[in-house]
Amino acid sequence: MTVAAKNIPITVFRTPSEMQAWSRDRRREGKTIGCVPTMGALHDGHLSLIRASAAGCDETIVTIFVNPTQFGPDEDLGKYPRDEASDLKLAVAAGATSAYCPAVEVMYPENSSVHVVEVNISTGLCGESRPFHFRGVTTVVSKLFNACLPDRAYFGMKDYQQLLVLRRMVRDLDFLLEIVGCPIVREPDGLAMSSRNKYLTDKARVDALCLRKGLDIAEQAFENGIRDPKVIGEMVRDSIKQVESAEIDYIECRDAEDLSEIETIENPAVVALAVTIGKTRLIDNTVLSPDKERKDV
Ligand code: PAF
Repeated sequence: MTVAAKNIPITVFRTPSEMQAWSRDRRREGKTIGCVPTMGALHDGHLSLIRASAAGCDETIVTIFVNPTQFGPDEDLGKYPRDEASDLKLAVAAGATSAYCPAVEVMYPENSSVHVVEVNISTGLCGESRPFHFRGVTTVVSKLFNACLPDRAYFGMKDYQQLLVLRRMVRDLDFLLEIVGCPIVREPDGLAMSSRNKYLTDKARVDALCLRKGLDIAEQAFENGIRDPKVIGEMVRDSIKQVESAEIDYIECRDAEDLSEIETIENPAVVALAVTIGKTRLIDNTVLSPDKERKDV
C-alpha cells in the first residue's frame, strides 16, 4: 500500500511493485529519475547526494532501509539510528520527491536465496574485515535499483570501495543506469560525515580527527614528490598510531580505479583507511592524482 507520510509532503512506497509502478509512470511522462540509496540517519553527506540528484534529474527517490545483510554478527545493526519521520523531512527539504522504505520482510521474503556477489574489488580493505558486507550491499542495491528503476544513482565517495564495487556491478550486470560519485562532505574540522559519528564520545570525537590528519600527511607527502605507496602508508600509520585509542584496521594506497596493489603512483591512487576509535569503526580516504598535479603546473 502507498502511504503518504504524516504531515510530510512526500509519498512513501513500501513495496517494490508500487515503487516500480510510480517510476514507470514517471518514465512514461518522459521524466528522468535519480535514486539516493541510504540506511537513514541522514546527515549533510546524504543531503548533498539528494541535492545533486534533484539538480540533475526530474524526480528523486530517497531509499531508507537499514539492510541487515550487510552487517556482521558483532556489528551495530541493533543500535543503528532509526528515525524515518525526521529523515523524510530532511529528504524533502533537500529535494526528494518520493521515498522507498520497505520493511525487512518485504525486502527479503522467506526463502530468499539469491545474492549478487562481486569477487574482485570487494575482497580486500573493508571486504577483509567484513567478509559478507559487500555481498549484502550489492544484493540490496540491485533490489533497490529494480524497484526504483532510476536513470542515475548517487553515492558518496567516503564509501570509496562501495562506489567502485557498485560501478562494477552496474557495468557487469548491464543495469541501465549511471552511478554518480559525489565528494566527501566533512565537518568544519575535517571529520568525514557519517551516521556512525553519533556513537563517538566527546573524547573519541577529538581522537577521530587522526583519520583526516593522516590523509593530510599522505597528500603532503605526495605533493612533496613521494610516489611509493608503502612509504606513504607508513607515514599515515605513524601519525595515527600516536593516538592511543585508535586501532588501525587497514591503511592502503591502491589504484583508484580498481583497488589493485601498485608499486608506484603513476596513475590516480586512493589512500583508504579504516580505524576504530573506542568502539566506533570509521573509514575515510583521499585520491592522489598525478594528472591534477600536472594540470596545476
Ligand atoms: O552506503 C550505504 O548507506 C549503504 O551501504 C547502502 C548503499 C544504502 C546499501 O544499504
